Amino acid sequence: MIKILNLSKSFGAKQILHEISMTIEQGKTTCIIGKSGSGKSVLIKNIVGLLQPDEGSIIVDGKEIPNLTRKELFEVRNKMGFVFQGAALFDSLNVFENVVLRLFEQGERDFEYLEKEAKRVLNAVQLLPDIDEVSENVYLKEWNILKNKMPSELSGGMRKRVGLARALVGSPEYLFYDEPTTGLDPVTSEQIDDLILSVQKRTKVTSIVITHDLFSVYKIADKVAMLHEGNKVFDGNVDEFKSSEIPAIKEFQERYS
Ligand SMILES: Nc1ncnc2c1ncn2[C@@H]1O[C@H](COP(=O)(O)OP(=O)(O)O)[C@@H](O)[C@H]1O
Ligand SMILES: [Mg+2]
Repeated sequence: MIKILNLSKSFGAKQILHEISMTIEQGKTTCIIGKSGSGKSVLIKNIVGLLQPDEGSIIVDGKEIPNLTRKELFEVRNKMGFVFQGAALFDSLNVFENVVLRLFEQGERDFEYLEKEAKRVLNAVQLLPDIDEVSENVYLKEWNILKNKMPSELSGGMRKRVGLARALVGSPEYLFYDEPTTGLDPVTSEQIDDLILSVQKRTKVTSIVITHDLFSVYKIADKVAMLHEGNKVFDGNVDEFKSSEIPAIKEFQERYS
């Protein structure tokens, strides 16, 4: 479980986050919404230890993130997967290499294991069929074509899928998505939403999704938290969010749906 306690963060004189407290429940999808510049990415960076809070704390599985040594932080990060804005694949690496890069960098050299893990995550994002869904020949053929593809040969939607597959390597407990559908056309956005849902179902991962796409929120969220002018102005389930009378929420709903 992730607990955020009275978290405040400023850059210079500008306060970005003001005494934010919230709990991110295990096994659910929490959407963090708010206008551009409202501090969503800064909040996530504090949670994963990329930024230090000025005040307050973040506790992940009982560990206080701001107080961890590098080694302890590394261990906590191993339980986390990240899907950043843009797929951010390495252009010079093929799909297989992109997907298993983290394991490789951690020193994993068991090629059979790396292949097995790549197949598992590429299946989870529906780029590979289930192993018992097709004949062995067909499966191997599809695998060989996919693994050798370079990012430049993939469509935008496929790149997103590979980016998600990479985040799933090592079976993280927490999955962070920063604006996964921003900049995508509506059809591809919906495919990504479906994918987030299906990954959630299959893996029971705890997902934290930053977005300002309300269509996406209504489809995937169990919980919604909204940031506005440095404050958390809402934290609850989707139905409560939809019927909220808070002015900042109504304005957001009108603007983004
Ligand atoms: N490292 C940084 N140094 C200074 N200002 C920053 C830094 N990171 C973010 N900001 C500022 O904090 C505010 C919130 O940014 P961000 O969390 O990225 O917004 P968003 O909700 O769009 O993700 C913005 O005004 C941004 O310019
Ligand atoms: Mg952002």
